[in-house]
Amino acid sequence: MNQTMPILSSIRIGSKVLSNRIAINAMECCDADTNGNPTETAFRRYDRLARGNAGVIVVEALSVVDENRGRLHQLTALAQNQKGLTDLVGAMRKANPKPLILWQLTHSGELSSPEFSERVCVKPFPGYEGRLLTEEEVDEILERFVFAAKMASDCGADGVDFKLCHGYLGSQLVRPFNDRKWKYGGSRGNRTRFAFEFYERVSREVKNRDFILGSKISAWEGLPGGMGSAGPDTPIIDLTEVLDLVKGLEARGAKYIIQSAGNPSLTLALTQPDKKIPDYSYLHFWFQKEFRKAMKKETVLIGSAYSLFRDGKNSFRGVKREEASLVYWGNKNISEGVCDMVAIGRQSLADPMLPLKLEQGKANEIKWCTGCDNCVEFLIRQKPVGCSTHEREYTLELKEIRRQQGNLAESEKHT
Ligand SMILES: Cc1cc2nc3c(=O)[nH]c(=O)nc-3n(C[C@H](O)[C@H](O)[C@H](O)COP(=O)(O)O)c2cc1C
Repeated sequence: MNQTMPILSSIRIGSKVLSNRIAINAMECCDADTNGNPTETAFRRYDRLARGNAGVIVVEALSVVDENRGRLHQLTALAQNQKGLTDLVGAMRKANPKPLILWQLTHSGELSSPEFSERVCVKPFPGYEGRLLTEEEVDEILERFVFAAKMASDCGADGVDFKLCHGYLGSQLVRPFNDRKWKYGGSRGNRTRFAFEFYERVSREVKNRDFILGSKISAWEGLPGGMGSAGPDTPIIDLTEVLDLVKGLEARGAKYIIQSAGNPSLTLALTQPDKKIPDYSYLHFWFQKEFRKAMKKETVLIGSAYSLFRDGKNSFRGVKREEASLVYWGNKNISEGVCDMVAIGRQSLADPMLPLKLEQGKANEIKWCTGCDNCVEFLIRQKPVGCSTHEREYTLELKEIRRQQGNLAESEKHT
């Protein structure tokens, strides 16, 4: 381990040795074409991320179906995307062969937008009721996930990140709220059936023996019956089930786990602590510690929610500035065994070159995330996502949104 900069130490995930302990968290950017293929804009984003030399790059949430999606311009992992995604992975490898490339696979379930797709659910959640899925339909969705994982392997990706966080279908199935008595709900065994069968099938059916399986997991959704709560009707934290889930995934071949929290549609600040109340970032540290304690030594734990710390010039209180930065906490948490790697989400939009700049001793050149959360606003508005602080194209996009809002407010005054 590099004693002064543990985040720049190498680490092994599966059979691949990574050059540093920084991971790029999955970041949906709403810039796919109408067939779910990566556009030039997406190619540019991933080219930069590859050149930025993070140890791991998780490609944003790819939907395994077309008919239930959260984003209009979302990447999809369907047969029609094989060429586009092969090209994307190839372009990333050409830019830099070192990073581990994972695809995050998802289905939106109750978070599908009824505006352009169908909202479906495993049990109607208050405010997110959709058509109730049948057992046969969930069996079919499992087939689609397995198909997407095989395609990831065929397209040259190193592995897949099965999404079990942020309130998407993976979370909807495993959370205690899913107490509907059916093949995929009620008992713990039924609620974890989908995730475990996915892992077992992929382990059996993907031919590449080095193919990596892992998941991003919401430790606590902050909702009654959400992941990490003590039962279907209480929000009180009890990590027992979530930690058993982690162990069950490890037993079925998980090589890494990404810790996360919250459900951005309902408890946004928990997933992405905001600069007004940044303190949830510390709660993520505790979740990491609990995950790490429960996990096998060889499984890599990647912690989330580090962006707000930036260079120490942040809104955390009661701290010395030199002991409040992303690099400080990354190094400290890794050296103290709280986590093995740190993931950056919003910061990766602000500066995809961060890992390389740190490796080259150019920390003073890093463009820091200001926590403005305009990227979140772009996402909510289904607009292409980027950093409006550091990239002119997105500054102009934000101005246009504001101009349209102004026009709307003006026209409402006159009606
Ligand atoms: C614009 C945007 C898109 C995101 N897309 C995804 C996604 O595709 N999959 C996912 O698991 N999390 C997604 N997240 C959450 C981030 O990966 C990350 O967990 C969160 O932002 C906290 O990390 P940070 O503090 O480094 O930003 C997204 C967040 C933002 C702001």
